[in-house]
This record gives sequence, C-alpha cells and structure tokens, in this order.
Amino acid sequence: MPANEADAIVLFGATGDLAGRMLLPSLYFLHADRFLPDGFRIVCTARTELTREAFLEQAHATVSERSSGVDDEVWAGFAERIDYVAADATTAEGAGKLCAALEGARRPFFYLAISPSLYEKIAVALAGVGLASEASRIVLEKPIGRDLDSSRRINRSLGGVFDENQVFRIDHYLGKETVQNLIALRFANTLFEPLWNSLSIDHVQITVAETEGVGDRWPYYDEYGALRDMLQNHMLQLLCLVAMEPPADMEPDSVRNEKVKVLRSLRRFSRVDANEKSVRGQYTPGVVRGASVDGYEAERGEKSGTETFVALRADIDNWRWAGVPFFLRTGKRMPEKRTQVAIQFKPVPHSIFGQASIHDLVANRLVIDLQPDEDIKLTLMNKAPGLSQGGMRLQSLPLSLSLLRTYEGVGGRRRIAYERLLLDVIHGDATLFVRRDEVEAAWSWVDCVADAWAEANLQPKPYAAGSWGPSGAFALIERFGRAWTD
Ligand code: BG6
Repeated sequence: MPANEADAIVLFGATGDLAGRMLLPSLYFLHADRFLPDGFRIVCTARTELTREAFLEQAHATVSERSSGVDDEVWAGFAERIDYVAADATTAEGAGKLCAALEGARRPFFYLAISPSLYEKIAVALAGVGLASEASRIVLEKPIGRDLDSSRRINRSLGGVFDENQVFRIDHYLGKETVQNLIALRFANTLFEPLWNSLSIDHVQITVAETEGVGDRWPYYDEYGALRDMLQNHMLQLLCLVAMEPPADMEPDSVRNEKVKVLRSLRRFSRVDANEKSVRGQYTPGVVRGASVDGYEAERGEKSGTETFVALRADIDNWRWAGVPFFLRTGKRMPEKRTQVAIQFKPVPHSIFGQASIHDLVANRLVIDLQPDEDIKLTLMNKAPGLSQGGMRLQSLPLSLSLLRTYEGVGGRRRIAYERLLLDVIHGDATLFVRRDEVEAAWSWVDCVADAWAEANLQPKPYAAGSWGPSGAFALIERFGRAWTD
C-alpha cells in the first residue's frame, strides 16, 4: 500500500440524503471497478440506532436506485468492507465507539456529510480519542459557513485540530469530468491561450440553470439563497478555471494559488452596483417541462425574501481581464437544466465583405456545455454556398465536439463527481479541493454582494417557474450591450 493511501473512511451522516444519493453509490462503484485499496474499510456512522444488517439493507436499496442493477457478488464484497456504528460523534463516548470500530486502521479519513454546526464538536471529539492523528484526513461538505466570519470560525476551529494539508473541502463541481476538461481545453491546447484575454474576448457568460425547485430543502435553502448556495462555490469555481493564469503544474498549491488570485481580483460591489449589476429573483407557480409546479412561497409555507435566482456582472481587475465583463446567472425552476460557459470573442475589426453581408457577420463564440450535454462548440464564419449579388454572403456555423458521442462506450457510464473526489482523498491529492484562503476569498466577495443588496434593499423579483428568470435579468445584460446565449 503506498505510504499516502488511506485505509478507511468514516462516513458521518451515513443515513442522510447525500450519503444515500451520492457517497455510498460512489464507494460502491469504486469498489466494483477495483479502485478501492485492498482492505479499505467503510465505517458508516449516524445517530440512528440500526443494526449493521438493517443499515446494509438500506444501503443496498439506495445504491440500487442509483445504478442499473447491483451485482450480487460485487455487493457481497462491498458489504464486507462496511460496518455501521450508531453514535453521537460529538461526545467522547461516541468518538470512543468509532475508535473501537477503526481498530487497526492507520490512515483513516473522516467524511462529514452533516450539518457544519457539528464540524467543530466532532473534530474535537475525534482529537480527544486520538483519532485526529497526522496520518488522518478530514473531508468537509459545503456550506463552509454562511459568510466570511462564520467560515473563518469553522476553519479556525478545525485548524486547531487538523493541519490545512489534512483538510479536504469539497466542491462537487470540481469532481465533474467536464469541469476538469476546462483545464485541459485551456492548457493542453496552444490555440486558445494567445486569445484568452481582453484583447480578443468581449465577455464571458456562465449559466447554471436547474429545473428542480427547492422543495423540502427550504429550511436550509431559505437561509442561503442562490447567491450562497450556488454562486459562492460552484459558479466562482467555474469562473476561476476560466480566468486563472496557467499554473506551473497540476500540484494542489500551483492550481489553488492561481484560483485565489482571481478571487482576490474580483471588483467589490457597491450599493449602486447592486441595482445596476445584479438581479435577484424568486419563482412563482408555473410550468416546468410540461408539469405545473408550485412557487417557492408555497413550498416555504410563507413569504420569504430569499432569492432562487441571481444574475450579476462580475469584473476581474487584472491585466488579462480588464474591461471584460463576466455575466453569471443561476436559478432554480428554469426551463431546462444547463451548465454552460460561453466565451464571446470580439467582432472582426473591419469587414471587407460589403453591404450584402453586413448583418451576416457575427463574432466567434466558444460555448462549453458542461451538463447535461457535454459539448464544445466554436462558431466560425463561413461563406454561404451559392451565388449572390453585391458581395459574398456569410454564415456562422459551429465546429462541434460532442464529448458524449465521441466517448460513447468508452469508460462506461458517466461517473458521479464524488467518485473522483473520494479517490483523490484516498490518495491524498488535494488539487480538486478548496483551500482555506480560497473559500475565504470567495466569501469575502460574496459578502460584499450581499451587503450591497442589503444597503440597496434589493428584493427578489418574481419569475414564473419554467422561465429564464425575471425580466430584469435580460435588462441587466442588455444594459451592457450584450445578450444571454440561448
Ligand atoms: C448543490 C446545491 O451544491 O448543487 C443544490 O446545494 C444544487 O441546490 C446542486 O441543486 C446542483 O448540483 P448538480 O451537480 O446537479 O449541478
């Protein structure tokens, strides 16, 4: 076993939603594909009193839901790795039970798929029974705080128990194959890099649209809203990957240093910017993919000032991006699921084609669809076939790379983002995890947006479920002479 390889995971919140939907299926697939080290143990823990057998039955059901058939033999091998410990891990007694279950494990990691309010207590309890050794690691789910102060508090208290290089903060977007492909696209090709700056790029759009509503997650969501739930983490990570300078290599700190520089270059928001450069929205009843759905207020059970949609213009004040707006928008109950980065290049400086083509000529655009379709399209101008009078007619056509089609049948099913991330924790590779100063820089900027909203008393505008957000979102981008990609 390599010196750095973990030999056990302790999964806190093992009976919870994230563990059932993502983590247990990911561990199962890693086991099935022989990525888990020999002898790697899975200690599942939660407060619920369950026997190991009852837990396994529950786990089998959740894993089956996620995969198209659980192989009995593979499952039997997987189940052998699993133990279940009913414990309150914030207490010395609970941590003691985990200690007993981990007997013989030398390099365990602790995955906290639980409320952040318990992070500190659990870390202290683990340290109390000697489990927070130098060889251990701790994995944290978002949200790491609700603002800069609370995230600092969490980071500081964990820092009292674990060194920063033992802390793995998850942003599951970084585990997505297509998100990692942004790094490959930018830094494994010479084609784009000379153009990747304010001389050639007019603006960038990042869209993360979801068709789902908030539903029964509202107790969490109502406190966070789209700004803190999506923009602070997933969208800023996408922005960093698009905007960062080339790192020297793929070592964790090389990549993370570059991302932090981008976050620190984000221009602060003022009260005036709140109105001019941002829009908040909240969905009302509507129709999504043919089905009538409730508004957020009905799900929440009362009026709420929380946004389920946000669109804003961000500016990165550095040499590469001066004057290039980044338009970000994310929302729930949109007409379709779409995660997309669009790089809009500048128009040609002068047209030689005459009057006939004056309206044909459109600037190049690189559209990177991350989900649900994985597609990279570069629109290029071409001569429209045929004869014409008064000059050549032009037409914009996409050069298209459908990753789904290209890799059909290669590598099998699409992997869950958590598979990559769990494997990286096992091997101690922190490149795809968020460093403390990174999460704090992101909060610092998000706080200034939230403060600007509060000062300007910017309330969410209603939008019908199934639409692309409030009309203000269109006015926002038009104010700067651009339009959202469709
Ligand atoms: C989570 C948010 O982090 O990401 C959810 O809390 C959101 O509100 C989810 O639905 C989106 O993830 P994905 O992988 O479906 O794009």
